[in-house]
Amino acid sequence: MLEFDYTNAMAARVGADGLTDAEWAAALAAGRSAFEAVEKDRAAGKPGFRRLPAQDTAELAKIAKTAAGFENFVVLGIGGSALGTTALASALLHPWWNFAAPEARRAPRLFVLDNVDPEETAGHLEICLPERTVYNVISKSGETAETAAQLMIFVAALKKRLGDRWRDHVIVTTDPDKGFLRHLARREKLQNLPVPPDVGGRFSALTAVSLLPLAACGVDPGRLLAGAAAVEERGREAAFRAASLYTALYRKGKKIAVMMPYSRALRDVADWFRQLWAESLGKRKSLDGKDVFEGQTAVKALGATDQHSQAQLYNEGPNDKLIAFLEVSRFRRPCPIPEGFEDDTCAFLRGKDLGELLNAEKRGTERALTANKRPNVTFRVEGVTPETAGAMLHFFELMTTYAGRLWNVNAFDQPGVEAAKHATFALMGRRGYEKLAEDIAKEEPAAAEKRVERF
Ligand code: PA5
Repeated sequence: MLEFDYTNAMAARVGADGLTDAEWAAALAAGRSAFEAVEKDRAAGKPGFRRLPAQDTAELAKIAKTAAGFENFVVLGIGGSALGTTALASALLHPWWNFAAPEARRAPRLFVLDNVDPEETAGHLEICLPERTVYNVISKSGETAETAAQLMIFVAALKKRLGDRWRDHVIVTTDPDKGFLRHLARREKLQNLPVPPDVGGRFSALTAVSLLPLAACGVDPGRLLAGAAAVEERGREAAFRAASLYTALYRKGKKIAVMMPYSRALRDVADWFRQLWAESLGKRKSLDGKDVFEGQTAVKALGATDQHSQAQLYNEGPNDKLIAFLEVSRFRRPCPIPEGFEDDTCAFLRGKDLGELLNAEKRGTERALTANKRPNVTFRVEGVTPETAGAMLHFFELMTTYAGRLWNVNAFDQPGVEAAKHATFALMGRRGYEKLAEDIAKEEPAAAEKRVERF
């Protein structure tokens, strides 16, 4: 299903910047108790994302069927309520899905609006007629300001055109009991789906959060969940080893974790992983309350595009990175390079496939990095399918869980995010945040203290 190849992270390949066999054995031995602790939690059904492979998707499938009849499916959400959907849509839908003719697509266009940029949002109303659109408002907490603002804008547009029938165009995905969105869904009798209370935002891709939008576009949720189930059955040790390797290299100074898919379909898995790794492991406090300021900066790149942007830095800049490739052995579509020009620049490409070229580029980059003593690993799938995509996401979530244990931090909270959320509430005048608003106003530097250049 998924291969984790860490040959080029070993000292035999990259010298002292990699791990010796002794260091690797010590890392695995030291982490074993973390592995056992995570296994014990699993037996108790914790954390919640581990139970997702066994979930019942009947209600979701029913709602997806109705949603599939719309011209547009628009996700309103941010962070963990959006990134998994983008990752899975890029992986599993046609690469030019929204541009395909409706009769070829036979499912809605899919948009993920994960920001409150005024031009993006106002512009969206110009290209998607609300009466032909279903809006899936997603928020685990049901309280996020960005998502609430989006909802208000699109509901107002719907009301203007459809009056009371606006309700037929909104689906709510949120906590089963708590929060404004749950309250709204009940009050207005909106179609709705739950996010299990013990599944946090960035671990929620394989809940209704992403399964519904994907199902509305024709992707079978059962196949995604089968991939996740395979991780639970057979991939736990591999995920633990991946977490242990990242941990050991982090402790050796690799403070940056680059993820570089050589596949356009997996491009947004790197973006999703960036949030998962950063928000789960970037923590001030250890589990026993000490200031530790842990965190490995996750960076996304794309092969081969970023060979012409980042590769110089990765090869010759500071040796502070662990570079992970995502590799696909077989692409779903061939794209042979035809006869053309006899000149040396072109002749050797004739008759080859673009997939072959892309994978050769990956091998070339890997070789150069290894020669430059830059540790690198490859996560490889045979092909991108709902099963392998589901497996990949579940695998990285599990790897993050192990890493949290190994680093002795809480991988499932995000106090730093909460602080900014509250500050936004205060700045925008939310009731109950008056004191914080006053404090923020007092923090404003005096005119004489400001350092600003203008031209
Ligand atoms: O992983 C997380 O918990 C966060 O990134 C959330 O997904 C993000 O803050 C959005 O929160 P919510 O889904 O509650 O709107």
